[in-house]
Amino acid sequence: MNDLSGKTVIITGGARGLGAEAARQAVAAGARVVLADVLDEEGAATARELGDAARYQHLDVTGEEDWQRVVAYAREEFGSVDGLVNNAGISTGMFLETESVERFRKVVDINLTGVFIGMKTVIPAMKEAGGGSIVNISSAAGLMGLALTSSYGASKWGVRGLSKLAAVELGTDRIRVNSVHPGMTYTPMTAETGIRQGEGNYPNTPMGRVGEPGEIAGAVVFLLSDTSSYVTGAELAVDGGWTTGPTVKYVMGQ
Ligand SMILES: NC(=O)c1ccc[n+]([C@@H]2O[C@H](COP(=O)([O-])OP(=O)(O)OC[C@H]3O[C@@H](n4cnc5c(N)ncnc54)[C@H](O)[C@@H]3O)[C@@H](O)[C@H]2O)c1
Repeated sequence: MNDLSGKTVIITGGARGLGAEAARQAVAAGARVVLADVLDEEGAATARELGDAARYQHLDVTGEEDWQRVVAYAREEFGSVDGLVNNAGISTGMFLETESVERFRKVVDINLTGVFIGMKTVIPAMKEAGGGSIVNISSAAGLMGLALTSSYGASKWGVRGLSKLAAVELGTDRIRVNSVHPGMTYTPMTAETGIRQGEGNYPNTPMGRVGEPGEIAGAVVFLLSDTSSYVTGAELAVDGGWTTGPTVKYVMGQ
């Protein structure tokens, strides 16, 4: 169903974690992918693992020139740019009161300004291709007020809003823009927090467990594909039910 044959997709933060898994699933669905990251060795290794349908390019998402080079590369190498997954990001675990201004600016620069520059750069290529799909990776922290996310939460709420206005501006250009909101998912970013995989190990969510990268990647591939041809401006929570609201599993008296 989620066929990506003939489509070229740029995936930022594609060296590892969710981005690498999205690349694996996109290639399995028939896409050609350009992985872009600042982790050059890991990125090149991930691209090699994926074979001839994948390339790696160095990209710091905060740099306009880097973006122009990578978009031009994707077009030269594969002929068009049909999909963009703005996935690169860094996290933070500070209370607002203790977050430094410098750190706040850095997180917003990578997580939000990077998404803005990426969209801005890719739009002309997508218009030329007759349309496209942009998937912006926000977070459950972009759907609720999550303590200890300070700059991260602010950046992810920004990604959610930017996705909506872009969807409105680009609808008639046949460019769809959606945000994906992963819950706690086991990747190199979160492994260091001490979270554990497996049933029952994450009671914060109704499903009682953290997510696996493949479960987020499936949603990304769906949004990249024509299966979601009438979906734009949507915010897709892939979070085991974390953002449904307070988790009440048992009603009193029962
Ligand atoms: N893992 C989770 O629980 C979770 C939950 C919600 C949202 N997310 C979001 O998913 C995305 C991927 O996260 P992950 O868990 O795979 O983390 P990760 O740390 O494993 O991967 C992030 C990737 O982004 C790259 N990156 C960082 N700064 C960059 C820059 N300036 N330019 C280019 N690349 C850069 C890193 O090198 C890394 O390869 C992030 O946007 C993150 O905020 C993750």
